[in-house]
Amino acid sequence: MRSKIVAGNWKMNKNLAETEALLTELAAKLPDTTAEVMVAPTYVNLASAVRTLESSAIEVIAQNMHFAENGAYTGEISADMLLSIGIDTAIIGHSERRAYFGETDEILAKKVVTALAKNIRVMFCFGEELEDRKSDNHFKVVESQLKNALFSLEAADWSKIVLAYEPVWAIGTGETASPEQAQEMHAFIRKTITDAYDASIANNVSILYGGSVKPANAVEIFGKPDVDGGLIGGASLVADDFVAIIKAI
Ligand code: G3H
Repeated sequence: MRSKIVAGNWKMNKNLAETEALLTELAAKLPDTTAEVMVAPTYVNLASAVRTLESSAIEVIAQNMHFAENGAYTGEISADMLLSIGIDTAIIGHSERRAYFGETDEILAKKVVTALAKNIRVMFCFGEELEDRKSDNHFKVVESQLKNALFSLEAADWSKIVLAYEPVWAIGTGETASPEQAQEMHAFIRKTITDAYDASIANNVSILYGGSVKPANAVEIFGKPDVDGGLIGGASLVADDFVAIIKAI
């Protein structure tokens, strides 16, 4: 059965002291939950975050990783480096990586293959831009993002995949997809996976929603049957807001 997940993507926020302070507060306030709770601080603070959360159920995950095993890739981070500090989940394909760092479907497909070969769980992000939705191309865009990066995988690989549908127009804008829009897309994603693989893979993969999730809208969004949790940006930087979102699951 698929798991419920609430993950905080801190993006390029919080220095070392701020990271330790927020994690300590989160660990102290973490409510009882059956959901997996994850946080993705910036790279330089990952090892310290793992230590800070040593005795907490909160898992530290990475915001990105490179497709190469090692080598001359200045500024990049490998799967083995993550594993060496106790991190075994990485976000791959976030729309900010696609938009600002030129990460194409082809590059993302390579990252996914490398991550899985290293036994790293992949939180794969995708989602349409505003013009795609306005021109009624959002289903086509999402289908092609999934197909290009994931549909060459073996069926068995899907146990290590978590999907995060994040409509780009709803990220950091305060504009959320309505719970109905999220449900409609998540159901479409499951159907697309059923067509490419089978219903059991489609029904067992966790599909998170991301894009301006806040305490005020989380209950309604998480209440939809095909929404298994959220990838939270801005609201994950405030302990009480993140805790309220965890409670909403
Ligand atoms: O990774 C998280 C998403 O980009 C959502 O960010 O909650 O600030 O809109 P947001």
